[in-house]
Amino acid sequence: MCGIVGYVGREEAAPILLDGLARLEYRGYDSAGIAVYSARDGLQVAKAKGRLQVLSDKIHGGADVRGRIGLGHTRWATHGEPSDVNAHPQLSESGRFAVIHNGIIENYVEIKEFLQEQGVSFVSQTDTEVVAHLLDYYYKDDMMDAVVKVLHRIEGAYAFGIVCADCPDRLIAARKDSPLIIGYGQGFNFLASDVTAVIKYTREVSYLDDGDIAVLTADKVEIYDSLLLPQNKARHTVDWEVSAAEKGGYEHFMAKEIMEQPEAFRKTISPRIQNGRVVLDDLEIGADDLREMDKIYIIACGSSYHVGVVAKYTLEKLLRKPVEVALASEFRYCDPIVSPKTLCIVISQSGETIDTLAAMREAKRLGARVLSIVNVVGSTIARESDDVLYTWAGPEIAVATTKAYSTQLAVIYLIGLYFADQLDAIDEETYRSVLEELQRLPDKMEKVLEQKEKIQYYASRYFNHESIFFIGRNVDYAVGLEGSLKLKEISYIHSEAYAAGELKHGTISLIEPGALVVALAGYRGLFEKLMSNVVEVKSRGADVLGVTTDSLGAEMEKTVDAAVTVPDTLDMLLPSLEVLPMQLLAYYIALMRGCDIDKPRNLAKSVTVE
Ligand code: F6R
Repeated sequence: MCGIVGYVGREEAAPILLDGLARLEYRGYDSAGIAVYSARDGLQVAKAKGRLQVLSDKIHGGADVRGRIGLGHTRWATHGEPSDVNAHPQLSESGRFAVIHNGIIENYVEIKEFLQEQGVSFVSQTDTEVVAHLLDYYYKDDMMDAVVKVLHRIEGAYAFGIVCADCPDRLIAARKDSPLIIGYGQGFNFLASDVTAVIKYTREVSYLDDGDIAVLTADKVEIYDSLLLPQNKARHTVDWEVSAAEKGGYEHFMAKEIMEQPEAFRKTISPRIQNGRVVLDDLEIGADDLREMDKIYIIACGSSYHVGVVAKYTLEKLLRKPVEVALASEFRYCDPIVSPKTLCIVISQSGETIDTLAAMREAKRLGARVLSIVNVVGSTIARESDDVLYTWAGPEIAVATTKAYSTQLAVIYLIGLYFADQLDAIDEETYRSVLEELQRLPDKMEKVLEQKEKIQYYASRYFNHESIFFIGRNVDYAVGLEGSLKLKEISYIHSEAYAAGELKHGTISLIEPGALVVALAGYRGLFEKLMSNVVEVKSRGADVLGVTTDSLGAEMEKTVDAAVTVPDTLDMLLPSLEVLPMQLLAYYIALMRGCDIDKPRNLAKSVTVE
């Protein structure tokens, strides 16, 4: 959740830290802070509640805080309200140590009581402050020794950046269950939560593993494992451009990312289709493993879970194997029926979502084979799964996902075709028709996005509604779930998504004159059934915005108040087209309501706490 960055080098650290934080702000944005050391001024800390700009203004873009080594943090509050005092870095009582932290120290209460008994005073409500004081407690002229003792004493999840005024040439980084990377430069080095913070300065990075401790000076990085054995960490070169993480003329990252979807989809499928076949070279799972497999479990959170709901329909249809889709936070605690014959497909944009990671570890412990679908290269989920298929969506910065969702769907379709082929579960003609249509989807997505003005107009009609319902059947229902989530997370309008047939089992009582119902009715085989549900809500006074395919549009328009159509496609591929008007609708409604679209309240991009 929080974003952390540390720099040691020959330039002024503060502006570099602020720049890194600006690129990490999507991880948390309720307060921010930096600590910079110089021989003249010692360890200086500046913190401010609110967006990063408040901090930046306070220290004149960094000019007030001089020094060539420092740490920066942008916070998503867990322990203690957003405030100057709870912002990181947290200082030890002696003022010797400054600490930035992403994660949760689970035994902080016990440690706090212990330290208070030793006479230590606390100033914040954060769990992180105990780490700063504990460093003081263990410090006997050896910074590394104190860090190691602290890491043994604490429980929970962490990515730390630590600076000590007694050793002002170095930063220490440590990780367990929270992402942390090292960025290597000539005469400088970085630690950071993710590569977006450092990409402007270097493309050469290493991903720390759980238990790793790194010592960074301007000229050297030493990495040790939890037993303090030196590690030779692989270095990776980040292959995307700085511009990919910038707005490029759009008002919001979300708008840019919505428009990038056709291209991202193309990039995700094209290299994996060769000579009319899906080729998944990166998969080690073979035909025999697939034949053995008696069940697929899909595990994910949020929008990635919604891709899982689509996947259940799609994979069951293509493979004729049972597919169960579970919310990661539930899977962990439901005593899941998983065996070595289970294939778990784990879906995560960030590859760091703690619930998904923990569920994946549980599935592996129970013997399942894990195939992950991940966007962030080198993320923990990618590294810990047996097989990984990357969604090549590029960096996704807006908190509300769009292009990651679309590329996750693309990978699901590829997996469906590939597995069906391996299992001989699909005839050649069907295989070919699905594959050809899959390749046509990016062009069709472009056609849908061309209708953005029309959707903007509908948004202007509906942005004042206080409650919006989404209904659909089969994959249309799955898209409704995503449409509803998009809307509520960025526009703060209350919204629910229902399988249309379920309405009359309770929810229809909420439909009253003026309620807005978005009816997804692209699924040809269920069009009439869905339209009956539309009639039911209309006769109770609802306004209906319908979404269907071009060929069904005229029929739908006879009943609904407004309609959006998407190009005709195979039913199973519909979500890739139908989700686009849902994203645009949410975007424009949020815009008209004056919401902070890229950084919605209470949310953060990467959910690394349980
Ligand atoms: C919604 C959204 C979230 C994420 C969820 C899982 O727009 O972005 O619901 O989908 O937090 O995140 P990942 O995919 O990173 O595991």
